[in-house]
Amino acid sequence: MSYKQFQRDTLEELFDVARYLKKVVDDPDKGETSDLKGKYIATCFFEPSTRTTTSFHSAMLRLGGKVLGLNTSVSSAAKGETLSDTVKVLQNYVDCIVLRHAGQGSAQEAADAASIPIINAGDGANEHPTQALLDMFCIHEEFGKLENITVTLLGDLKYGRTVRSMAPLMAQYGIKLNLVSPPVLKMDPAHVQVVRDMGGHVHETNDLESVISSTDVLYCTRVQKERFPTEEDYLKVKGSYVIDPAFMARAPKHMLVLHPLPRVDEISPAVDCDPRSMYFKEPRYGMIMRMALLLSVLRR
Ligand code: NCD
Repeated sequence: MSYKQFQRDTLEELFDVARYLKKVVDDPDKGETSDLKGKYIATCFFEPSTRTTTSFHSAMLRLGGKVLGLNTSVSSAAKGETLSDTVKVLQNYVDCIVLRHAGQGSAQEAADAASIPIINAGDGANEHPTQALLDMFCIHEEFGKLENITVTLLGDLKYGRTVRSMAPLMAQYGIKLNLVSPPVLKMDPAHVQVVRDMGGHVHETNDLESVISSTDVLYCTRVQKERFPTEEDYLKVKGSYVIDPAFMARAPKHMLVLHPLPRVDEISPAVDCDPRSMYFKEPRYGMIMRMALLLSVLRR
Protein backbone atom coordinates (compact mmCIF):
# COMPACT_ATOMS: atom_id res chain seq x y z
CA MET A 1 0.00 0.00 0.00
CA SER A 2 1.22 3.44 -0.96
CA TYR A 3 -0.09 6.99 -1.26
CA LYS A 4 -0.04 6.27 -5.01
CA GLN A 5 -3.20 4.16 -4.65
CA PHE A 6 -5.29 7.07 -3.36
CA GLN A 7 -6.75 9.47 -5.86
CA ARG A 8 -9.04 12.23 -4.68
CA ASP A 9 -12.26 10.31 -5.37
CA THR A 10 -10.97 7.30 -3.37
CA LEU A 11 -10.06 9.63 -0.52
CA GLU A 12 -13.52 11.20 -0.53
CA GLU A 13 -15.13 7.74 -0.42
CA LEU A 14 -12.93 6.75 2.53
CA PHE A 15 -13.78 9.99 4.36
CA ASP A 16 -17.50 9.30 3.82
CA VAL A 17 -17.20 5.78 5.25
CA ALA A 18 -15.08 7.09 8.12
CA ARG A 19 -17.66 9.78 8.95
CA TYR A 20 -20.37 7.12 9.07
CA LEU A 21 -18.20 4.90 11.29
CA LYS A 22 -17.40 7.83 13.58
CA LYS A 23 -21.10 8.22 14.29
CA VAL A 24 -21.36 4.49 15.09
CA VAL A 25 -18.30 4.51 17.33
CA ASP A 26 -19.30 7.71 19.14
CA ASP A 27 -22.81 6.34 19.83
CA PRO A 28 -22.71 4.79 23.32
CA ASP A 29 -25.56 2.44 22.34
CA LYS A 30 -23.62 1.11 19.33
CA GLY A 31 -19.83 1.51 19.37
CA GLU A 32 -19.26 -1.47 17.09
CA THR A 33 -20.54 -3.33 14.00
CA SER A 34 -20.41 -6.90 12.77
CA ASP A 35 -19.33 -6.07 9.20
CA LEU A 36 -16.13 -8.14 9.43
CA LYS A 37 -17.47 -11.05 11.46
CA GLY A 38 -15.50 -14.16 10.51
CA LYS A 39 -12.54 -12.18 9.14
CA TYR A 40 -9.03 -12.26 10.59
CA ILE A 41 -6.06 -9.93 10.37
CA ALA A 42 -2.48 -10.36 11.61
CA THR A 43 -0.58 -7.37 12.97
CA CYS A 44 3.16 -7.79 12.32
CA PHE A 45 5.23 -5.00 13.81
CA PHE A 46 8.97 -5.44 13.38
CA GLU A 47 9.50 -1.86 14.61
CA PRO A 48 8.14 -0.23 17.80
CA SER A 49 4.53 0.95 17.74
CA THR A 50 1.89 2.08 20.22
CA ARG A 51 -0.86 3.85 18.26
CA THR A 52 -0.72 2.10 14.92
CA THR A 53 -0.85 -1.42 16.33
CA THR A 54 -3.50 -0.76 18.98
CA SER A 55 -5.68 1.33 16.67
CA PHE A 56 -5.69 -1.41 14.00
CA HIS A 57 -6.44 -3.94 16.73
CA SER A 58 -9.29 -1.87 18.14
CA ALA A 59 -10.58 -1.08 14.62
CA MET A 60 -10.79 -4.77 13.70
CA LEU A 61 -12.49 -5.75 16.97
CA ARG A 62 -15.02 -2.90 16.58
CA LEU A 63 -15.89 -4.29 13.13
CA GLY A 64 -16.55 -7.71 14.63
CA GLY A 65 -13.36 -9.32 13.26
CA LYS A 66 -10.46 -11.04 15.01
CA VAL A 67 -6.78 -10.16 15.37
CA LEU A 68 -3.63 -12.24 15.64
CA GLY A 69 -0.68 -10.24 16.94
CA LEU A 70 2.67 -11.65 15.79
CA ASN A 71 5.22 -11.33 18.57
CA THR A 72 8.07 -10.23 16.32
CA SER A 73 10.65 -10.34 19.14
CA VAL A 74 10.36 -14.15 19.15
CA SER A 75 9.32 -14.73 15.52
CA SER A 76 11.32 -16.87 13.10
CA ALA A 77 12.78 -13.69 11.57
CA ALA A 78 15.40 -14.13 14.33
CA LYS A 79 16.28 -17.50 12.78
CA GLY A 80 16.78 -15.90 9.37
CA GLU A 81 13.32 -16.41 7.85
CA THR A 82 12.68 -13.94 5.04
CA LEU A 83 9.75 -11.55 5.14
CA SER A 84 8.36 -13.19 2.00
CA ASP A 85 8.35 -16.61 3.64
CA THR A 86 6.74 -15.20 6.81
CA VAL A 87 3.82 -13.67 4.89
CA LYS A 88 3.36 -16.81 2.77
CA VAL A 89 2.87 -18.71 6.02
CA LEU A 90 0.65 -16.14 7.75
CA GLN A 91 -1.75 -15.94 4.80
CA ASN A 92 -2.87 -19.46 5.74
CA TYR A 93 -4.25 -18.06 9.00
CA VAL A 94 -5.61 -14.61 8.17
CA ASP A 95 -7.31 -12.53 5.45
CA CYS A 96 -5.04 -9.46 5.64
CA ILE A 97 -1.67 -8.52 7.15
CA VAL A 98 -0.85 -5.15 8.72
CA LEU A 99 2.92 -4.78 8.45
CA ARG A 100 5.49 -2.43 9.93
CA HIS A 101 9.10 -3.09 9.05
CA ALA A 102 12.36 -1.13 9.04
CA GLY A 103 13.13 -2.02 5.43
CA GLN A 104 12.21 0.60 2.83
CA GLY A 105 10.07 -1.19 0.28
CA SER A 106 9.29 -4.06 2.69
CA ALA A 107 5.52 -3.61 2.33
CA GLN A 108 5.84 -3.95 -1.45
CA GLU A 109 8.11 -6.98 -1.01
CA ALA A 110 5.48 -8.60 1.23
CA ALA A 111 2.66 -7.67 -1.16
CA ASP A 112 4.57 -9.24 -4.06
CA ALA A 113 4.89 -12.50 -2.10
CA ALA A 114 1.38 -12.62 -0.64
CA SER A 115 -1.99 -13.53 -2.09
CA ILE A 116 -3.84 -11.50 0.56
CA PRO A 117 -3.85 -7.70 1.09
CA ILE A 118 -0.86 -6.20 2.90
CA ILE A 119 -1.48 -2.89 4.68
CA ASN A 120 1.67 -0.79 4.98
CA ALA A 121 1.89 0.45 8.58
CA GLY A 122 5.31 2.02 7.96
CA ASP A 123 8.26 0.79 5.88
CA GLY A 124 11.46 2.36 7.15
CA ALA A 125 11.87 5.99 6.14
CA ASN A 126 9.75 5.46 3.05
CA GLU A 127 5.99 5.61 3.65
CA HIS A 128 3.26 5.50 6.29
CA PRO A 129 0.11 5.90 4.19
CA THR A 130 -2.50 5.04 6.84
CA GLN A 131 -1.13 7.75 9.13
CA ALA A 132 -1.34 10.25 6.27
CA LEU A 133 -4.97 9.28 5.63
CA LEU A 134 -5.96 9.64 9.27
CA ASP A 135 -4.21 13.01 9.54
CA MET A 136 -6.04 14.30 6.49
CA PHE A 137 -9.32 13.03 7.89
CA CYS A 138 -8.56 14.77 11.21
CA ILE A 139 -7.80 18.07 9.42
CA HIS A 140 -10.91 17.73 7.29
CA GLU A 141 -13.15 17.22 10.31
CA GLU A 142 -11.49 19.64 12.74
CA PHE A 143 -10.58 22.45 10.32
CA GLY A 144 -13.66 21.93 8.16
CA LYS A 145 -11.96 21.62 4.75
CA LEU A 146 -8.82 20.61 2.92
CA GLU A 147 -9.10 22.93 -0.07
CA ASN A 148 -7.28 26.26 -0.13
CA ILE A 149 -5.46 25.79 3.13
CA THR A 150 -1.80 26.19 4.05
CA VAL A 151 -0.11 23.34 5.90
CA THR A 152 3.37 23.65 7.38
CA LEU A 153 5.22 20.34 7.67
CA LEU A 154 7.87 20.78 10.35
CA GLY A 155 10.90 18.84 11.54
CA ASP A 156 12.38 15.70 10.07
CA LEU A 157 11.20 15.73 6.47
CA LYS A 158 14.08 13.50 5.34
CA TYR A 159 13.40 10.39 7.42
CA GLY A 160 9.80 11.11 8.54
CA ARG A 161 7.63 8.66 6.62
CA THR A 162 4.30 10.23 7.57
CA VAL A 163 5.10 13.42 5.66
CA ARG A 164 6.42 11.50 2.65
CA SER A 165 3.01 9.85 2.30
CA MET A 166 1.02 12.93 3.22
CA ALA A 167 2.59 15.62 1.00
CA PRO A 168 1.56 14.06 -2.35
CA LEU A 169 -1.96 13.37 -1.05
CA MET A 170 -2.27 16.98 0.06
CA ALA A 171 -1.04 18.14 -3.34
CA GLN A 172 -4.19 16.62 -4.86
CA TYR A 173 -6.24 19.13 -2.87
CA GLY A 174 -4.11 22.06 -3.98
CA ILE A 175 -2.95 22.54 -0.40
CA LYS A 176 -0.11 25.05 -0.09
CA LEU A 177 2.76 23.27 1.65
CA ASN A 178 5.53 24.91 3.64
CA LEU A 179 8.33 22.41 4.21
CA VAL A 180 10.26 23.62 7.26
CA SER A 181 13.30 21.66 8.41
CA PRO A 182 16.97 22.02 9.25
CA PRO A 183 18.93 21.90 5.95
CA VAL A 184 20.17 18.34 6.63
CA LEU A 185 16.62 17.08 7.19
CA LYS A 186 15.07 18.50 4.01
CA MET A 187 12.68 16.32 2.06
CA ASP A 188 14.44 14.39 -0.70
CA PRO A 189 14.38 16.70 -3.79
CA ALA A 190 13.03 13.91 -6.01
CA HIS A 191 10.07 13.51 -3.66
CA VAL A 192 9.48 17.29 -3.57
CA GLN A 193 9.33 17.11 -7.37
CA VAL A 194 6.72 14.34 -7.13
CA VAL A 195 4.63 16.63 -4.91
CA ARG A 196 5.04 19.53 -7.35
CA ASP A 197 4.16 17.30 -10.31
CA MET A 198 0.93 16.39 -8.52
CA GLY A 199 -0.03 20.05 -8.34
CA GLY A 200 1.42 20.90 -4.93
CA HIS A 201 2.54 24.47 -4.19
CA VAL A 202 5.71 23.90 -2.20
CA HIS A 203 7.82 26.42 -0.31
CA GLU A 204 10.97 25.18 1.44
CA THR A 205 12.68 27.03 4.29
CA ASN A 206 14.36 26.45 7.63
CA ASP A 207 12.77 29.57 9.12
CA LEU A 208 9.55 28.64 10.91
CA GLU A 209 8.84 32.23 11.96
CA SER A 210 8.68 33.35 8.33
CA VAL A 211 5.70 31.10 7.55
CA ILE A 212 3.82 30.97 10.80
CA SER A 213 1.38 33.82 10.23
CA SER A 214 0.07 32.17 7.04
CA THR A 215 -0.18 28.63 8.49
CA ASP A 216 -3.59 27.00 8.97
CA VAL A 217 -2.25 23.63 10.12
CA LEU A 218 1.14 23.00 11.70
CA TYR A 219 2.14 19.35 11.33
CA CYS A 220 5.06 18.60 13.66
CA THR A 221 7.25 15.53 13.39
CA ARG A 222 9.78 13.81 15.62
CA VAL A 223 13.42 13.82 14.56
CA GLN A 224 13.80 10.11 13.73
CA LYS A 225 16.80 9.23 15.90
CA GLU A 226 16.74 5.57 14.87
CA ARG A 227 17.37 6.44 11.20
CA PHE A 228 20.52 8.58 11.67
CA PRO A 229 23.89 7.06 10.75
CA THR A 230 25.39 8.15 14.12
CA GLU A 231 24.17 9.53 17.46
CA GLU A 232 26.39 12.57 16.88
CA ASP A 233 24.54 13.39 13.64
CA TYR A 234 21.23 13.13 15.51
CA LEU A 235 22.36 15.39 18.37
CA LYS A 236 23.28 18.15 15.89
CA VAL A 237 19.63 18.58 14.87
CA LYS A 238 17.74 17.35 17.95
CA GLY A 239 15.56 20.13 19.34
CA SER A 240 15.87 22.32 16.21
CA TYR A 241 12.26 23.47 16.64
CA VAL A 242 10.27 23.50 19.86
CA ILE A 243 6.61 24.49 19.93
CA ASP A 244 5.97 26.15 23.28
CA PRO A 245 3.34 28.55 24.71
CA ALA A 246 5.33 31.61 23.59
CA PHE A 247 5.31 30.32 20.01
CA MET A 248 1.59 29.52 20.20
CA ALA A 249 0.92 33.09 21.39
CA ARG A 250 2.42 34.34 18.09
CA ALA A 251 0.59 31.77 15.93
CA PRO A 252 -2.80 32.37 14.27
CA LYS A 253 -5.78 31.84 16.58
CA HIS A 254 -7.24 29.27 14.18
CA MET A 255 -4.01 27.31 13.57
CA LEU A 256 -4.32 23.62 14.42
CA VAL A 257 -1.30 21.67 15.68
CA LEU A 258 -0.98 18.03 14.68
CA HIS A 259 1.71 15.45 15.43
CA PRO A 260 1.60 11.71 14.62
CA LEU A 261 3.29 11.05 17.99
CA PRO A 262 5.37 9.92 19.79
CA ARG A 263 6.80 13.36 20.59
CA VAL A 264 10.15 13.76 22.23
CA ASP A 265 10.92 17.43 22.76
CA GLU A 266 9.39 19.11 19.70
CA ILE A 267 6.16 20.14 21.46
CA SER A 268 6.23 21.34 25.05
CA PRO A 269 3.65 19.56 27.28
CA ALA A 270 2.53 23.08 28.28
CA VAL A 271 0.90 23.32 24.82
CA ASP A 272 -1.28 20.23 25.39
CA CYS A 273 -4.14 22.19 26.95
CA ASP A 274 -4.23 24.74 24.09
CA PRO A 275 -7.52 24.16 22.21
CA ARG A 276 -5.58 24.28 18.92
CA SER A 277 -3.61 21.14 19.91
CA MET A 278 -5.05 18.17 18.05
CA TYR A 279 -2.44 15.49 18.72
CA PHE A 280 -4.36 13.66 21.43
CA LYS A 281 -7.52 13.73 19.29
CA GLU A 282 -5.73 12.40 16.20
CA PRO A 283 -5.49 8.81 17.55
CA ARG A 284 -9.31 8.57 17.64
CA TYR A 285 -9.45 9.62 13.99
CA GLY A 286 -6.75 7.00 13.45
CA MET A 287 -8.85 4.16 14.78
CA ILE A 288 -11.84 5.29 12.72
CA MET A 289 -9.88 5.75 9.50
CA ARG A 290 -8.34 2.29 10.00
CA MET A 291 -11.85 0.86 10.41
CA ALA A 292 -12.75 2.45 7.07
CA LEU A 293 -9.62 1.00 5.45
CA LEU A 294 -10.20 -2.50 6.84
CA LEU A 295 -13.77 -2.38 5.58
CA SER A 296 -12.66 -1.32 2.11
CA VAL A 297 -10.09 -4.13 2.00
CA LEU A 298 -12.06 -6.96 3.62
CA ARG A 299 -15.79 -6.49 3.13
CA ARG A 300 -17.25 -9.06 0.75
C1 NCD B 1 5.08 7.64 13.32
C2 NCD B 1 5.85 6.53 12.65
O1 NCD B 1 5.91 5.41 13.17
O2 NCD B 1 6.36 6.79 11.58
N1 NCD B 1 4.33 7.24 14.44
C3 NCD B 1 3.08 6.72 14.30
O3 NCD B 1 2.84 5.81 13.55
N2 NCD B 1 2.11 7.30 15.02
C4 NCD B 1 5.95 8.81 13.62
C5 NCD B 1 7.14 8.60 14.53
O4 NCD B 1 7.49 7.49 14.90
O5 NCD B 1 7.75 9.61 14.88
